[in-house]
Amino acid sequence: MATVPEPIWVEFDEYTASRMLPHDPALSSALRASQEANLPSIQVSPAQGKLLHILARSVHAKRILEIGTLGGYSTIWLAQALPPGGRMVSLEIDPRHREVAESNLERAGLADRAEVRWGPAVDLLKEMVAGKEPSFDFVFIDANKDAYSEYLDLAVHLAHPGTLIVIDNVVRGGAVADAHTRDPLALGVRRMNDRIAAEPRLTATTVQTVGVKGYDGFTIALVQGQ
Ligand code: SAH
Ligand code: DHB
Ligand code: MG
Repeated sequence: MATVPEPIWVEFDEYTASRMLPHDPALSSALRASQEANLPSIQVSPAQGKLLHILARSVHAKRILEIGTLGGYSTIWLAQALPPGGRMVSLEIDPRHREVAESNLERAGLADRAEVRWGPAVDLLKEMVAGKEPSFDFVFIDANKDAYSEYLDLAVHLAHPGTLIVIDNVVRGGAVADAHTRDPLALGVRRMNDRIAAEPRLTATTVQTVGVKGYDGFTIALVQGQ
Protein backbone atom coordinates (compact mmCIF):
# COMPACT_ATOMS: atom_id res chain seq x y z
CA MET A 1 0.00 0.00 0.00
CA ALA A 2 1.02 3.60 -0.45
CA THR A 3 2.31 5.04 2.85
CA VAL A 4 2.18 8.54 4.31
CA PRO A 5 5.69 10.02 4.49
CA GLU A 6 7.23 11.09 7.82
CA PRO A 7 7.94 14.88 7.85
CA ILE A 8 11.71 14.27 8.04
CA TRP A 9 11.60 12.19 4.84
CA VAL A 10 9.95 15.12 3.05
CA GLU A 11 12.39 17.64 4.56
CA PHE A 12 15.29 15.48 3.48
CA ASP A 13 14.04 15.28 -0.13
CA GLU A 14 13.79 19.10 -0.06
CA TYR A 15 17.36 19.31 1.26
CA THR A 16 18.59 16.96 -1.50
CA ALA A 17 16.81 19.10 -4.09
CA SER A 18 18.45 22.26 -2.74
CA ARG A 19 21.94 20.82 -3.26
CA MET A 20 21.66 18.35 -6.13
CA LEU A 21 18.60 19.05 -8.29
CA PRO A 22 18.90 22.30 -10.23
CA HIS A 23 15.60 23.85 -11.25
CA ASP A 24 14.50 22.52 -14.64
CA PRO A 25 11.55 24.31 -16.28
CA ALA A 26 10.87 21.24 -18.46
CA LEU A 27 10.22 19.14 -15.36
CA SER A 28 8.31 21.75 -13.36
CA SER A 29 6.01 22.67 -16.26
CA ALA A 30 5.37 18.96 -16.89
CA LEU A 31 4.27 18.58 -13.27
CA ARG A 32 2.10 21.69 -13.47
CA ALA A 33 0.43 20.58 -16.72
CA SER A 34 -0.16 17.08 -15.32
CA GLN A 35 -1.77 18.56 -12.22
CA GLU A 36 -3.93 20.91 -14.31
CA ALA A 37 -5.08 17.92 -16.36
CA ASN A 38 -6.00 16.13 -13.11
CA LEU A 39 -3.62 13.25 -13.62
CA PRO A 40 -2.88 11.29 -10.42
CA SER A 41 0.23 12.62 -8.68
CA ILE A 42 2.06 9.28 -8.57
CA GLN A 43 5.14 10.11 -10.66
CA VAL A 44 8.60 9.36 -9.27
CA SER A 45 9.93 12.00 -6.88
CA PRO A 46 12.56 14.49 -8.13
CA ALA A 47 15.32 12.62 -6.28
CA GLN A 48 14.14 9.32 -7.81
CA GLY A 49 13.91 10.86 -11.28
CA LYS A 50 17.52 11.98 -10.92
CA LEU A 51 18.48 8.44 -9.87
CA LEU A 52 16.88 7.03 -13.05
CA HIS A 53 18.71 9.68 -15.09
CA ILE A 54 22.08 8.85 -13.51
CA LEU A 55 21.60 5.09 -13.90
CA ALA A 56 20.67 5.48 -17.59
CA ARG A 57 23.75 7.64 -18.18
CA SER A 58 25.95 5.21 -16.26
CA VAL A 59 25.13 2.39 -18.68
CA HIS A 60 25.48 4.82 -21.63
CA ALA A 61 21.91 4.01 -22.63
CA LYS A 62 21.18 4.89 -26.26
CA ARG A 63 17.79 3.16 -26.28
CA ILE A 64 15.47 3.43 -23.30
CA LEU A 65 12.14 1.66 -22.76
CA GLU A 66 9.57 2.79 -20.20
CA ILE A 67 6.40 0.92 -19.26
CA GLY A 68 3.87 3.38 -17.77
CA THR A 69 4.22 7.02 -18.95
CA LEU A 70 1.58 8.98 -16.98
CA GLY A 71 2.34 12.67 -17.78
CA GLY A 72 5.89 11.91 -18.89
CA TYR A 73 7.73 13.15 -15.79
CA SER A 74 10.05 10.13 -15.52
CA THR A 75 10.14 10.06 -19.33
CA ILE A 76 11.70 13.54 -19.34
CA TRP A 77 14.31 12.60 -16.72
CA LEU A 78 15.26 9.53 -18.78
CA ALA A 79 15.14 11.14 -22.24
CA GLN A 80 17.48 13.85 -20.93
CA ALA A 81 20.00 11.08 -20.24
CA LEU A 82 20.17 10.07 -23.92
CA PRO A 83 23.19 10.94 -26.06
CA PRO A 84 22.59 12.67 -29.43
CA GLY A 85 20.77 10.22 -31.70
CA GLY A 86 19.40 8.24 -28.73
CA ARG A 87 15.79 7.04 -28.55
CA MET A 88 13.20 6.52 -25.87
CA VAL A 89 9.94 4.59 -26.18
CA SER A 90 7.33 4.86 -23.40
CA LEU A 91 4.16 2.77 -23.26
CA GLU A 92 0.83 4.08 -21.93
CA ILE A 93 -2.69 2.66 -21.94
CA ASP A 94 -4.60 5.84 -21.05
CA PRO A 95 -5.05 8.11 -24.10
CA ARG A 96 -5.43 11.18 -21.88
CA HIS A 97 -2.17 10.46 -20.08
CA ARG A 98 -0.50 9.95 -23.43
CA GLU A 99 -1.80 13.28 -24.71
CA VAL A 100 -0.52 15.16 -21.63
CA ALA A 101 2.84 13.35 -21.83
CA GLU A 102 3.25 14.17 -25.52
CA SER A 103 2.65 17.85 -24.94
CA ASN A 104 5.04 17.80 -21.96
CA LEU A 105 7.75 16.15 -24.10
CA GLU A 106 7.14 18.64 -26.88
CA ARG A 107 7.51 21.56 -24.45
CA ALA A 108 10.67 19.98 -23.03
CA GLY A 109 12.18 19.85 -26.54
CA LEU A 110 12.38 16.05 -26.39
CA ALA A 111 9.69 15.08 -28.93
CA ASP A 112 12.39 14.24 -31.50
CA ARG A 113 13.82 11.47 -29.32
CA ALA A 114 10.99 10.32 -27.01
CA GLU A 115 7.86 8.59 -28.31
CA VAL A 116 4.76 7.51 -26.37
CA ARG A 117 3.05 4.39 -27.75
CA TRP A 118 -0.59 3.92 -26.84
CA GLY A 119 -2.11 0.61 -25.78
CA PRO A 120 -1.98 -2.19 -23.20
CA ALA A 121 1.73 -2.60 -22.56
CA VAL A 122 1.74 -6.41 -22.76
CA ASP A 123 0.35 -6.21 -26.31
CA LEU A 124 2.76 -3.46 -27.33
CA LEU A 125 5.72 -5.37 -25.90
CA LYS A 126 4.70 -8.58 -27.68
CA GLU A 127 4.45 -6.62 -30.94
CA MET A 128 7.92 -5.24 -30.31
CA VAL A 129 9.34 -8.73 -29.71
CA ALA A 130 7.57 -10.11 -32.81
CA GLY A 131 8.63 -7.09 -34.91
CA LYS A 132 12.28 -7.60 -33.90
CA GLU A 133 12.54 -4.19 -32.23
CA PRO A 134 16.22 -3.40 -31.59
CA SER A 135 17.15 -4.13 -27.98
CA PHE A 136 17.06 -1.56 -25.19
CA ASP A 137 19.94 -0.60 -22.90
CA PHE A 138 17.77 0.60 -20.04
CA VAL A 139 14.20 -0.35 -19.05
CA PHE A 140 11.99 1.32 -16.44
CA ILE A 141 8.93 -0.70 -15.38
CA ASP A 142 6.26 1.43 -13.66
CA ALA A 143 2.76 0.52 -14.99
CA ASN A 144 0.05 -1.75 -13.49
CA LYS A 145 1.67 -3.89 -10.83
CA ASP A 146 -0.42 -7.04 -11.50
CA ALA A 147 1.42 -7.45 -14.84
CA TYR A 148 4.95 -6.82 -13.50
CA SER A 149 5.95 -10.45 -13.99
CA GLU A 150 4.97 -10.36 -17.71
CA TYR A 151 6.65 -6.97 -18.11
CA LEU A 152 9.88 -8.30 -16.66
CA ASP A 153 9.77 -11.35 -18.91
CA LEU A 154 9.15 -9.28 -22.04
CA ALA A 155 11.77 -6.72 -20.99
CA VAL A 156 14.36 -9.51 -20.82
CA HIS A 157 13.35 -10.50 -24.38
CA LEU A 158 13.98 -6.91 -25.50
CA ALA A 159 17.30 -6.63 -23.65
CA HIS A 160 20.92 -7.67 -24.13
CA PRO A 161 23.68 -8.52 -21.66
CA GLY A 162 24.42 -5.22 -19.92
CA THR A 163 20.84 -3.90 -20.01
CA LEU A 164 19.74 -2.40 -16.71
CA ILE A 165 16.11 -2.95 -15.69
CA VAL A 166 14.68 -0.75 -12.91
CA ILE A 167 11.28 -1.50 -11.40
CA ASP A 168 9.30 0.98 -9.26
CA ASN A 169 7.01 0.37 -6.28
CA VAL A 170 8.36 -3.00 -5.26
CA VAL A 171 8.19 -2.52 -1.47
CA ARG A 172 4.82 -0.83 -0.94
CA GLY A 173 5.20 -0.05 2.74
CA GLY A 174 6.66 -3.51 3.28
CA ALA A 175 3.51 -5.31 2.06
CA VAL A 176 5.48 -7.15 -0.61
CA ALA A 177 7.48 -9.11 2.00
CA ASP A 178 4.27 -10.45 3.58
CA ALA A 179 3.86 -14.02 2.33
CA HIS A 180 0.16 -13.89 3.33
CA THR A 181 -0.62 -10.58 1.60
CA ARG A 182 -3.83 -10.43 -0.43
CA ASP A 183 -3.02 -7.00 -1.83
CA PRO A 184 -3.10 -7.58 -5.61
CA LEU A 185 -0.32 -5.04 -6.12
CA ALA A 186 1.97 -6.79 -3.64
CA LEU A 187 1.06 -10.15 -5.16
CA GLY A 188 2.02 -8.84 -8.61
CA VAL A 189 5.43 -7.79 -7.33
CA ARG A 190 5.88 -11.14 -5.53
CA ARG A 191 5.17 -13.03 -8.78
CA MET A 192 7.77 -10.90 -10.52
CA ASN A 193 10.29 -11.59 -7.75
CA ASP A 194 9.70 -15.35 -8.19
CA ARG A 195 10.58 -14.89 -11.87
CA ILE A 196 13.71 -12.94 -10.98
CA ALA A 197 14.74 -15.71 -8.60
CA ALA A 198 14.32 -18.29 -11.39
CA GLU A 199 15.98 -16.25 -14.17
CA PRO A 200 19.72 -16.92 -14.45
CA ARG A 201 20.08 -14.06 -16.98
CA LEU A 202 19.30 -11.56 -14.20
CA THR A 203 21.24 -10.49 -11.15
CA ALA A 204 19.14 -8.18 -9.00
CA THR A 205 18.61 -6.41 -5.71
CA THR A 206 15.88 -4.34 -4.10
CA VAL A 207 16.65 -1.05 -2.39
CA GLN A 208 14.03 0.22 0.06
CA THR A 209 13.40 3.97 -0.12
CA VAL A 210 11.71 6.66 1.99
CA GLY A 211 10.89 10.19 0.86
CA VAL A 212 7.99 12.31 -0.36
CA LYS A 213 6.34 9.16 -1.75
CA GLY A 214 6.43 7.36 1.61
CA TYR A 215 8.06 3.98 2.15
CA ASP A 216 8.62 2.04 -1.07
CA GLY A 217 11.57 0.93 -3.19
CA PHE A 218 13.17 -0.01 -6.47
CA THR A 219 14.40 -3.31 -7.83
CA ILE A 220 17.49 -2.98 -9.99
CA ALA A 221 18.19 -5.95 -12.24
CA LEU A 222 21.17 -6.35 -14.55
CA VAL A 223 20.94 -8.64 -17.57
CA GLN A 224 24.05 -10.78 -17.62
CA GLY A 225 25.57 -12.90 -20.40
CA GLN A 226 24.56 -16.60 -20.45
N1 SAH B 1 6.45 6.51 -14.89
C1 SAH B 1 5.55 7.61 -14.51
C2 SAH B 1 4.42 7.13 -13.62
C3 SAH B 1 3.61 6.02 -14.22
S1 SAH B 1 2.11 5.75 -13.31
C4 SAH B 1 6.38 8.67 -13.77
O1 SAH B 1 7.07 8.29 -12.82
O2 SAH B 1 6.32 9.85 -14.13
C5 SAH B 1 1.55 4.31 -14.12
C6 SAH B 1 1.01 4.52 -15.53
O3 SAH B 1 0.82 3.22 -16.10
C7 SAH B 1 -0.34 5.24 -15.59
O4 SAH B 1 -0.28 6.34 -16.46
C8 SAH B 1 -1.28 4.17 -16.15
O5 SAH B 1 -2.30 4.68 -17.00
C9 SAH B 1 -0.34 3.28 -16.93
N2 SAH B 1 -0.84 1.91 -17.13
C10 SAH B 1 -1.64 1.19 -16.31
N3 SAH B 1 -1.92 0.01 -16.84
C11 SAH B 1 -1.27 -0.05 -18.03
C12 SAH B 1 -1.19 -1.02 -19.07
N4 SAH B 1 -1.83 -2.19 -18.98
N5 SAH B 1 -0.45 -0.73 -20.15
C13 SAH B 1 0.20 0.46 -20.26
N6 SAH B 1 0.15 1.41 -19.33
C14 SAH B 1 -0.59 1.17 -18.23
C1 DHB C 1 1.46 4.80 -6.73
C2 DHB C 1 2.78 5.16 -6.86
C3 DHB C 1 3.48 4.80 -8.00
O1 DHB C 1 4.79 5.11 -8.15
C4 DHB C 1 2.86 4.10 -9.02
O2 DHB C 1 3.59 3.76 -10.10
C5 DHB C 1 1.53 3.74 -8.90
C6 DHB C 1 0.82 4.09 -7.75
C7 DHB C 1 0.73 5.17 -5.50
O3 DHB C 1 1.35 5.77 -4.62
O4 DHB C 1 -0.47 4.88 -5.42
MG1 MG D 1 5.68 4.14 -9.76
